Amino acid sequence: MRLSRHGLLKMTVAATLAVVVGAAASACGSSNSGAGGDQSITVYNAQHEDLTQAEADAFTAQTGIKVTMRNGDDSEQSNQLVQEGSASPADVFLTENSPGIGLVASKGLLAPIDQATRDQVPAQYSPADGSWVGWAARSTVLAYNTSKLTPAQLPASIMDLAQPQWKGKIGISPSGADFQAIVSAVVQLKGEDATLTWLKGLKSNAKIYQGNTSVMKAVNSGEIEAGVIYHYYWFKDQAESGANSNNVKLKYFGNQDPGAFVSVSGAGVLKSSKHQEAAQKFVAFLTSKKGQQVLSDSKAMEYSIASDVPANAKLSPLSTLDPPKVDVSALNGPRVVALMQQSGLI
Ligand SMILES: [Fe+2]
Repeated sequence: MRLSRHGLLKMTVAATLAVVVGAAASACGSSNSGAGGDQSITVYNAQHEDLTQAEADAFTAQTGIKVTMRNGDDSEQSNQLVQEGSASPADVFLTENSPGIGLVASKGLLAPIDQATRDQVPAQYSPADGSWVGWAARSTVLAYNTSKLTPAQLPASIMDLAQPQWKGKIGISPSGADFQAIVSAVVQLKGEDATLTWLKGLKSNAKIYQGNTSVMKAVNSGEIEAGVIYHYYWFKDQAESGANSNNVKLKYFGNQDPGAFVSVSGAGVLKSSKHQEAAQKFVAFLTSKKGQQVLSDSKAMEYSIASDVPANAKLSPLSTLDPPKVDVSALNGPRVVALMQQSGLI
């Protein structure tokens, strides 16, 4: 696990609070009717802040329920929720990718999502047990510099990037939740041994960057020939000025390759929430026609996946991506972190 000093301190404080507040809560029994009613919820948000804020604003406009966001990344917030346990102030947890919410679900901290909400989301984007639902999707891509590489020179599989011919030519952002979600898919599809071998190859081949935007910028400038990112970083930059992506094109691996992995953003309601009804309403909204339209119309350029709302027309349709079949509820974040540490990538 990679945690900043600040993160560790926060976790320690949170753990202490969990003990104190947990004791108080068990003394007065469990009650879901918090004082002040259901007019405000706290969302632990690991998705991109501007997207979640757009959803929260539309939700508040529709329901009058206020949303307070606490922003962080997938692993930081999922670990914090596990530390806080039933004392968490969180009502809803939104992740960028599914391993983080899977961790929280595996600790029994999530309440079942209302069936009507689950029915809004196609089955492959949510776990069968209904502990959370998917609400957005993002495709893995290989961003490549068009003056350095022709389409014919591109690898057929993301696994090929571990071969010696790519030494010094590729970039990744291994500390980020996005890349770690891709690794979790590789683990599920290829097994731990093959994943570790692949990671060791990446360790010797790849330049390391902080964040997908930095990877894309380096591809754009020609510092590296190609890099692994999610699709929306390119589309967002193109929609703005193109300054960091005009020399870049995207390869979609397709063919159910691990590199064609489509990652799912998750939404869950904390079992300990004292605002169950409002929290369920928020998740229902996110996956509703209105909430999905907010996503599709936003600058996020991620895929809408629920309530039959078409994705932004600029994107390559999800139906054409031919992703591998991955059980999004079984992606194992902690194992991925261990393997990445073992390979020396983090
Ligand atoms: Fe991202």
